[in-house]
Amino acid sequence: MTGEEPTPNPSLQGGEHDLRDSVTSKSSVEATRAVTAFSSGKGDGGLGGIETVRPNIRAMAGYVPGEQLNDPDIIKLNTNESPYPPSPRVFDALRAALTSNSLRKYPQPFGDTFRNAAGRVLNVDPDSILIGNGSDDILTILTRAFVPEGGLIASPAPSYILYKSLAEIQGARFHAIPFTHDWRTDRDSWPRGASLSFVPNPNSPTGTVLDPIDVLRLSKRVSPNPLVVDEAYADFAEPPGYVPLVADWDNLIVTRTFSKSYALAGIRFGFAVARPELVRELLKVKDSYNCDVLSLAAATAAIEDQDYFREVRTKIIATRARMTRELAALGFEVTPSHANFVWCRRADKPLKPIYEELKRQKILVRYMNYPVGPIGSPPGAYDGLRMSVGTDAEIDRLLEELRGIV
Ligand SMILES: Cc1ncc(COP(=O)(O)O)c(C=O)c1O
Repeated sequence: MTGEEPTPNPSLQGGEHDLRDSVTSKSSVEATRAVTAFSSGKGDGGLGGIETVRPNIRAMAGYVPGEQLNDPDIIKLNTNESPYPPSPRVFDALRAALTSNSLRKYPQPFGDTFRNAAGRVLNVDPDSILIGNGSDDILTILTRAFVPEGGLIASPAPSYILYKSLAEIQGARFHAIPFTHDWRTDRDSWPRGASLSFVPNPNSPTGTVLDPIDVLRLSKRVSPNPLVVDEAYADFAEPPGYVPLVADWDNLIVTRTFSKSYALAGIRFGFAVARPELVRELLKVKDSYNCDVLSLAAATAAIEDQDYFREVRTKIIATRARMTRELAALGFEVTPSHANFVWCRRADKPLKPIYEELKRQKILVRYMNYPVGPIGSPPGAYDGLRMSVGTDAEIDRLLEELRGIV
């Protein structure tokens, strides 16, 4: 409260009474204007003032997603999309779903057709699958379900920046635990009381995977609170992840996305695998229809086409190996990657100008700058270039430009 009286709007001297008269006697456009003038006449303390937004939201900077430029000529290696098209079966499924009946009606709230298909492919109980509008939606649902206001979210650092934003939105605290110099996580520095722990595996931006012993120790340390293994990139890793362990580890939740290995970032679809009792609770938290009929059809067709999936994965892993070798030959320190991107640094040249020059040449990679690096890295910011694995032709162009720059 400022203690100041709102300034009356001269055109509405009679206050709410006159407002009602003018609204009922005018066209809808004029009525809307009258209401707007009335509310703005009340000054900053009026309806819907910014001060009514929760303080934690006003204080936060907000997650900034990677650049999505509208230039068809750009080689886009900044947000780890697949460089290859989705399975041809996805297009058939989308065409089949484009009927007036399926568009007219609500989609399946729990995505049962998808859950059955994914259950068969992953060899898990369909009731242990929770569908999401991208895996970010799943991460939001988990935060809303497990983290009370004032609770604690923990994740390793440097890592996926969204985890911190989720804590801020929830009004929770956030604790980043630096990786060790060899990309392990030190269980003893992990806060025992964390309401929710996010561990991306493979990690972004480094593409590294944790030793399974560390993951097991971590799950025991935070138990009974959940350990979420974010497997957005697990399809590019060996061994391929923790889904088979969910049935045996009480507090393990695994999240997956269709944005990377299934080439469906534009359609927005992800899922979690957790014990069915937990999924039943999480279903109460999600939006009733969080996945639309088209994303459900596309994701079901994509996961059913495992031959195509394996073919694309093999190509991406082969290009990653070549990219790693050739970037190293150009003087970059390249962290061995288990994902569809590589993390590159170099001590002899600043990295941001390299990103900027590549962008001028219409090649978009991601320049990342973190407040904390792994233990043992020089104090201060820790930066690098994260480059997605493209087609072989795209990577040839990238390497050619880099030869001219470095
Ligand atoms: C580690 C990690 N988790 C989750 C996501 C979110 O993926 P999506 O919401 O597209 O499924 C990303 C996206 O880049 C990511 O890097």
